[in-house]
Amino acid sequence: MSILPQPTIESVLQQTRKETGLPPSELRVLMTHITGFDRVGLVTKGNRELPMDQLSAFKSLAAKRQHGEPIAYLVQQKEFYSRPFFVDPRVLIPRPETEELVEHALGFLQNKSTENLLTRVLDIGCGSGAIAISLALENPILEVTATDISADALWVAQHNANELGAKNVRFIQSDLFAGLLNQTPALAFDLICSNPPYIEQGDIHLSQGDLRFEPSLALTDGGDGLRFYRETARNSPTLLRPGGGVLVEHGHDQQGAVKALFAMPPYVHVQGLPDLAGTPRFVFAHI
Ligand SMILES: C[S@@+](CC[C@H](N)C(=O)[O-])C[C@H]1O[C@@H](n2cnc3c(N)ncnc32)[C@H](O)[C@@H]1O
Repeated sequence: MSILPQPTIESVLQQTRKETGLPPSELRVLMTHITGFDRVGLVTKGNRELPMDQLSAFKSLAAKRQHGEPIAYLVQQKEFYSRPFFVDPRVLIPRPETEELVEHALGFLQNKSTENLLTRVLDIGCGSGAIAISLALENPILEVTATDISADALWVAQHNANELGAKNVRFIQSDLFAGLLNQTPALAFDLICSNPPYIEQGDIHLSQGDLRFEPSLALTDGGDGLRFYRETARNSPTLLRPGGGVLVEHGHDQQGAVKALFAMPPYVHVQGLPDLAGTPRFVFAHI
């Protein structure tokens, strides 16, 4: 009895492409994840046989992808600010626009003089920890505090901090400001930043694309999409050092409404900023 040869990596890629209609680039990402070979390795080792266990794991991932599951969840990784973050359905997949929030935050903090005090940053709703950990690693003399209401998200964020070697970040479970106000000694930050859930309840996008698979807690505030900005504008002054700032990311059509929420004392300057695509995306407010 002759044993049938196992299909090769390349033949599996081609066959799966025909069967699923998935783009070759996506299939290669999944195959890279399964085999551990990088993109070049997939080409140079394309005529190697794919072991049975890897074949069935690959087929299973391709079927899930065909169903719409985000690639990042399938390979449990998303690059953010040039670092690989572990992600799974417990956390939002960090978006490229949010890297620009990190840029703006670093720019503001660089110009900050805190007279021998360590510069402190708070990230509200940290999810995977993308913002907090990137800030902590880019500027190791920062003291970063990151919060989330979700214990699951905090587990992922702590895991990422450990894996990426961010020692200057601590995580606190808190419903918005509830666990931060009335602390002794009082908490005080130079910058409060946040990419909160801002999609309005019932928005059609919640039932489309990647968003179907992401935690609803990370996407919508269950109301008009502005609840987190209202709370942040109201509570941040209590937690800010003199000259401190608040930097928030928001939806493409929310800049006017978010700016209006910060247009009150003690904020002295409120600025709307676009993302690289030119879409109004961030509001920065100073006290
Ligand atoms: C849009 S995600 C942002 C995640 C991450 N900062 C990023 O930019 O990729 C919003 C995060 O806010 C968290 N969140 C939702 N409600 C919250 C609340 N009441 N208090 C604190 N965090 C909350 C969610 O669990 C989620 O991780």
